Amino acid sequence: MEIIVQSDAEHATELAARIISTRIRERPTLVLGLATGRTMERIYERLADMHRNGLDFSGCSSFNLDEYIGLEPDDPNSYRATMQRLLFDHVNFAPGRTHVPDGHATDIKRAARDYEAAIRAAGGIGLQLLGIGETGHIGFNEPLSALMSRTRDKTLTPRTREQNAPLFGGNPDAVPKRALTMGVGTILEAEEILLVATGPAKAEILARAFEGPLTASISASALQLHPRCRVIADEAAAARLANRSYYDFVFFNEPEWERYRDSGFIN
Ligand code: GLP
Repeated sequence: MEIIVQSDAEHATELAARIISTRIRERPTLVLGLATGRTMERIYERLADMHRNGLDFSGCSSFNLDEYIGLEPDDPNSYRATMQRLLFDHVNFAPGRTHVPDGHATDIKRAARDYEAAIRAAGGIGLQLLGIGETGHIGFNEPLSALMSRTRDKTLTPRTREQNAPLFGGNPDAVPKRALTMGVGTILEAEEILLVATGPAKAEILARAFEGPLTASISASALQLHPRCRVIADEAAAARLANRSYYDFVFFNEPEWERYRDSGFIN
């Protein structure tokens, strides 16, 4: 794992968008794992800009992490609608190549199995983008999610419903209670993982997830097992990290980061 700290959210999300665009250029048929949440909004905005400047999604496909259960498919708060609005309507994925779990299915367990099968049929996820919830969730894998869990329905914590309430008019009771989410085990099978965290509300959970012990109580800590996982944080989210100076040393010395160490990315 590597943790890269950038000065602010703008630089952190710009770096994430640049890494994603590099991977798409290196492998035009890349299978992307996509995430929702406010942290992702600027990343998708930048990917849409990059598409206008030639970044081609026509060979790519995508699988989103999760979807609320019970929202109507055209509900603007569904993750399908959110992804259309933020990214899919602005780039050129081929029709049918963007996938979001079906939270409206009558048979949720079957929808979960079908989602896993679709990921396998696409050849697995090449690059998985992640945010992190204040409970340490990745996707909607709330505390005590099995580290080997697969796509399934999950009950959200009150804290997550509060965290996501601003997107539902500020009312936590309006946030669905359950979601269909890729499992921790599903996520760990991605070839490469990029987790982005910004803002002071993420500082404590970031330190616990990546510098603390591996535990099912913090799903994101399972990423410590992944051989190719990068965390990009802004200063505010990195504020509680103990080994910060080493992470900066890696960013400034590791050859792989050289192309990203331009003047736009000074700490
Ligand atoms: C939701 C998503 C998570 C995401 C989290 C963070 O709960 N299911 O995948 O990581 O939001 O949200 P934000 O970026 O708004 O802090």
